[in-house]
Amino acid sequence: MQFQTLASLLFATASVFSQSAKAQDTSCPPIGWFSMAYYAQIHNATYDSTFDMDFYSQQQMPWVYSLYKPFGMKGYTINTLERDAPWSVVTFFYFDTAEQFDAALAAHEDEILARVPLFSSEYPSRFVGDVISTTF
Ligand SMILES: *[C@@H]1O[C@H](CO)[C@@H](O)[C@H](O)[C@H]1NC(C)=O
Repeated sequence: MQFQTLASLLFATASVFSQSAKAQDTSCPPIGWFSMAYYAQIHNATYDSTFDMDFYSQQQMPWVYSLYKPFGMKGYTINTLERDAPWSVVTFFYFDTAEQFDAALAAHEDEILARVPLFSSEYPSRFVGDVISTTF
């Protein structure tokens, strides 16, 4: 009898958890959209990637933001990774929609990429995705 009670309690608990997990899937739509630019870093006996963070954070990204803001860019975060990571810098560009970013990129991509050699030995690559929540 006691065992049955415990088992049914566990079963009830498990179904509560699976219900709340399901509820979360549908009740947590994206709150925004991002494009993530990442810069490879290679360090070996014959090659050393370089990245000038002062230039990037004080000149390049404020300039890019001024170009993209009229298209709906909300802000950005610049993040550095440790030397052993495959990427040195990861920057998130926040927008409401992918279409806003596409329009910004179409208008300014060439002039932005032309300035990459001023601060980085590597050109950036990109992923995009949804922002589900932020907590700071
Ligand atoms: C170092 O990295 C460069 C750039 O990827 C590569 O061309 C070179 O072969 C590497 N050298 C060694 C010793 O791994």
